[in-house]
Amino acid sequence: MDDPEELFRGNRSNFIDIIRTGSELGVSVCVVTVKDLKLKQKKMIGYVYDPAAKKFSPQVIGLPHVLYNRIPLRQDESSHDVQQTIAACMKHPQIRLFNPYFFDKWSLFEWLNKAKTTSKYIPSTRKMTSSQELESLFKLHSAVYMKPVSGKAGKGIMKAERHIGKLDRRPEYCLSVQETKGSVVYKYAKLSQLWSRIKEEIGHEDYIAQQGISLVRYKKRPFDLRVLVQKNYKGEWDVTGIGARLAGKLSITTHVPRGGSIDDPERLLASAFGAEGCKRILMRARKAALAIARQVEKKSGHMLGEMSMDLGVDVHGGIWFFEANSKPMKFDEPHIRKKSLERIVHYALYLIRSKQAKPGGANVVQTN
Ligand SMILES: Nc1ncnc2c1ncn2[C@@H]1O[C@H](COP(=O)(O)OP(=O)(O)O)[C@@H](O)[C@H]1O
Ligand SMILES: [Mg+2]
Repeated sequence: MDDPEELFRGNRSNFIDIIRTGSELGVSVCVVTVKDLKLKQKKMIGYVYDPAAKKFSPQVIGLPHVLYNRIPLRQDESSHDVQQTIAACMKHPQIRLFNPYFFDKWSLFEWLNKAKTTSKYIPSTRKMTSSQELESLFKLHSAVYMKPVSGKAGKGIMKAERHIGKLDRRPEYCLSVQETKGSVVYKYAKLSQLWSRIKEEIGHEDYIAQQGISLVRYKKRPFDLRVLVQKNYKGEWDVTGIGARLAGKLSITTHVPRGGSIDDPERLLASAFGAEGCKRILMRARKAALAIARQVEKKSGHMLGEMSMDLGVDVHGGIWFFEANSKPMKFDEPHIRKKSLERIVHYALYLIRSKQAKPGGANVVQTN
């Protein structure tokens, strides 16, 4: 953020897409940094994009009416100054700030477990503090996933499995650790040995341990659904699109940078459950995603305009929630991408319209 060459951090091409969509819909959008958000003044600096010159340049703007927090790193967001600015924006009479914070996996689990409408989609989950959590999950499940509370893109994910030895019928444990592309597998005879290794991997990070779901497969590769849920121009939650991610051959997650690939959810689901089954599952996934978005917004206590979700489908067609993200990455499916950009602007317009008492022009700004 302090780099004079760079002006601001974050995904530039994403910002440019939102700005372009804004101008197509008659809304001025620009990027503002936390440092420049001087709420006591009437004017501030915003970074405006010139499509002809393909350049961002600083310009004096009025205080924004709508802000979308796109600070890219958790570490930056957690700094004292940033926290204070976010709190001040939320209190400000003119500014409407949506998606003010990152989510973490443990809070999501707690929020969603509290309501009947969503608890049915949540795998059994514990905060990992000792080998006891692992032991108790292994009593009911033969596979356990371990994930950093603030992780993303598969970083730090492990999967432990208990098998019964073919010859001596004794249990044995396998641990798969996600590496850059594939995963590395270790074998242990005792849970205590497994735990020592896990402890080493975890270090000082906060982790959750979660019931492993047997995901449905396509050509032996597990896949899951990536759902984008956004508010529409009426400020109501709606499913913008559903994509599918097929795991890499040697990976325990479905992330594209880790060898996973993008695919068509209908094709994958129909091959496992038939055309009728596929329709039913997609309908249930939409229903689950909407219930989850409502509950997350309610329990987070903040105004949210969009979130992406990773949903698993088990071999029986059941839907499972893995995580939600308050700063969704771009969807690569063009039809989802286009609609998602329009919805961000539509939602901003809704916010401006629904708070007409607030004076001033109509510019939408992203923080960064
Ligand atoms: N409990 C689980 N059972 C089966 N697969 C899981 C489980 N949790 C995560 N996964 C797989 O790992 C992927 C990454 O998990 P996720 O919770 O989304 O973490 P990240 O923040 O790293 O993306 C999921 O998309 C899914 O494919
Ligand atoms: Mg994920």
